[in-house]
Amino acid sequence: MGKKILVTGGTGYIGSHTVVELQQAGYEVLIIDDLSNSNIEVLDGIENITGIRPDFVQLDLNDKEGLYKVLTENRNIQGIIHFAASKAVGESVQKPLQYYRNNILTLLNLLDMMPEFGIRCFVFSSSCTVYGQPDILPVTENAPIKPAMSPYGNTKQINEEIIHDAIHANLPFKSIILRYFNPIGAHPSAEIGELPNGVPQNLVPFITQTAMGIRKELSVFGDDYNTPDGTCIRDFINVVDLAKAHVIAIDRMLENKSDDKLEVFNLGTGTGVSVLELIHAFEQGTGVKVPYRIVERREGDIEKVWADPTYANNVLGWKAKETLKDTLVSAWNWQKKLK
Ligand code: WQD
Repeated sequence: MGKKILVTGGTGYIGSHTVVELQQAGYEVLIIDDLSNSNIEVLDGIENITGIRPDFVQLDLNDKEGLYKVLTENRNIQGIIHFAASKAVGESVQKPLQYYRNNILTLLNLLDMMPEFGIRCFVFSSSCTVYGQPDILPVTENAPIKPAMSPYGNTKQINEEIIHDAIHANLPFKSIILRYFNPIGAHPSAEIGELPNGVPQNLVPFITQTAMGIRKELSVFGDDYNTPDGTCIRDFINVVDLAKAHVIAIDRMLENKSDDKLEVFNLGTGTGVSVLELIHAFEQGTGVKVPYRIVERREGDIEKVWADPTYANNVLGWKAKETLKDTLVSAWNWQKKLK
């Protein structure tokens, strides 16, 4: 009987890729997802890749009784990877109360119940947005946490503090917080990938939909930034590379490889890439032109941010491996599958 891991938000973009890597590492997986921002067909994609259909319960983690019942029926859960959250920066500005309720209460429900069910490992999906616009680049885990630029970013900061304080109060579990930079791409099988709801907010799915002719042209939000080509710079990391880090984090806690009860890691490539550079890399990798127009800046955008991944490289023994071009080709292959 393999060790069972609960993956909340496991039918989502990063969650589904993590479920595949967990299964291929020998873990049993239970997914809890409310399907508010993903769809059930993702389970077919996961099964097509691994041959194993993960256990699945559709549940809103705000439903404490429902969560208690699921944990009662799954007594062999050894750890939790918590992805489930609302994650659109712009939407969070319009609907802050929904974001604070969904992203914070659900975390509290999980942490509340872990001790009773003997669940001792908790991986939290966090974000480089906690750094705001770093003063020093590349950004390390010791960089100061700056006031959030959005309610979404604030919920990530608050959740990190909740986890820190829970562990400081000696609640009986360990946690690893993973701060993602910009996850992009899709599984090489093209069985799973990013499924934006409606008009994509993020850059790469908008590019692939434009390349497919679904969108007329890409709006590039500003080219008057203090960067070499004037467009924003990001650390775009392959989603499978990112998923692999979650398995390493769970292994690390289950095998007691560290005496620390709380660890934080930046998950990035260490390379900054501008919006225009990414567009050109996509065109070179796929041979498909992407019509775009420079428009005004998007409110809340950070000018430039990329990771110093040295700590994760050295301590976790994890490193992003996939090239930007291969990653963009995987996104394009997935889009062609979706049509
Ligand atoms: C990237 C760059 C845009 C769309 C978000 C979340 C962050 C993390 C990663 C979860 C920016 C530009 C975008 C478009 C554009 N998610 N852009 N035209 O904002 O860096 O980060 O995703 O952890 O928390 O905030 O990602 O892909 O939206 O934007 O020019 O149509 O592309 O201005 O410079 P972002 P993004």
